[in-house]
Amino acid sequence: MAEIEKKPLKITETVLRDAHQSLIATRMTTEQMLPIVDKMDQVGFHAVECWGGATFDASLRFLKEDPWERLRKLRAGFKNTKLQMLFRGQNILGYNHYADDVVEYFVQKSIANGIDIIRIFDCLNDLRNLETAVKAANKENGHAQVALAYTLGDAYTLEYWKDMAKRIEEMGAKSLCIKDMAGLLVPAKATELVQALKESCSIPIDLHTHYTSGVASMTYMKAVEAGCDIIDTAMSPFSMGTSQPATEVMVEAFKDTPYDTGLDQTKLAEIADYFRPMREEALKSGLMNTKVLGVNIQTLRYQVPGGMLSNLVSQLKEMGQEDKYEQVLEEVPKVRKDFGEPPLVTPSSQIVGTQAVLNVVSGERYKMVTKESKKILMGEFGQTVKPFNPEVQKKCIGDAKPITCRPADLIKPQLEDIEKEMAQYKQQDEDVLTYALFPQVATEFFKYREAQQNKVDASEADTENKAYPV
Ligand code: CO
Repeated sequence: MAEIEKKPLKITETVLRDAHQSLIATRMTTEQMLPIVDKMDQVGFHAVECWGGATFDASLRFLKEDPWERLRKLRAGFKNTKLQMLFRGQNILGYNHYADDVVEYFVQKSIANGIDIIRIFDCLNDLRNLETAVKAANKENGHAQVALAYTLGDAYTLEYWKDMAKRIEEMGAKSLCIKDMAGLLVPAKATELVQALKESCSIPIDLHTHYTSGVASMTYMKAVEAGCDIIDTAMSPFSMGTSQPATEVMVEAFKDTPYDTGLDQTKLAEIADYFRPMREEALKSGLMNTKVLGVNIQTLRYQVPGGMLSNLVSQLKEMGQEDKYEQVLEEVPKVRKDFGEPPLVTPSSQIVGTQAVLNVVSGERYKMVTKESKKILMGEFGQTVKPFNPEVQKKCIGDAKPITCRPADLIKPQLEDIEKEMAQYKQQDEDVLTYALFPQVATEFFKYREAQQNKVDASEADTENKAYPV
């Protein structure tokens, strides 16, 4: 038998971003991260995903932290390891479309503050919504990785994925990620998919999945054997459930195979020791709920991401209509079909989910329609892979004429006005971007920051007086 050529598998570690976003509502603080950074830097990860996604919003809103400050501190600590962020295309880290000048400036500042790899995706897989960010990353000498939101449905054939991969490479992406946010990619399909993508593009392929449906580590095994270059994993205390497969386990699984990662289990064990008490604490306080830890087979039945399931439960709870849960779950795929069968990922997952709840609770489909549902049907999020249901479109937007161009083409440059609007709070250039994405949350944060600074000033003046008695 011919010996298989050695091809070490690369590992992207997610404990500082997706893992805590998935398991403890994105509540890990910078202070909790910093003591372990030096050790993580010595492992030899391909990259550490540590910024973007929901972390930006959560830092400001719940932790009262400046996300830019976090990035600079992580950059200072990670001297040898590439830092990766998750970026929602024209939505940046928010939930709406922004003008190109905001997208470009955000990319520029992310890289200037320490990001190496920007993983860029669009919730409809409309590649037009990625172009500005990809170009900007290339201009700043960053690594633009384009992520395809993986989903199932009639339109999502191997031919579809192959065509997308080719176009992504042509767009100038340096690598391609299959972003399986719901854990829908089963092992045998991973073999087919990776083989197909490898046929149509020559950039490295990264697979990102979640353990939600219980198949993730098998899927990684098959994908790697089919040629996948990079997998995303999380240190064991923050792995499994709605997070990623455990780093140590995947490293061991590929040991002494042609895909041996070469990562040192002793170092990984020390890192796991650091995070384990944090897990115990989160379990005790209820921040980590056992619901996110098990296997959720409904995610395979209804093709709904884990995070979306818990959102639906809480929406129904608020309305006192928890008994409608099954009905809503059955309504989700129907709404998705009416809306052109998009992947379910932020923000399309929230839009489809909320509309499904309204359709069931109001007793008549599309009797109540959210602003966001109308926006999707107006083409304002971009193009879906399939056409909208014309009857539903008519009922929701009437005779309004949907747009067909790239949505951001209709948005005028925004930066100048934003800068004027928030000038009184500006302490660093990056504050303009923070405000551009989350005006209300940012304002609250800026006020809090100022109050803290005044407090510190006062106490410093105090110690100065004590240290130098006149
Ligand atoms: Co993820």
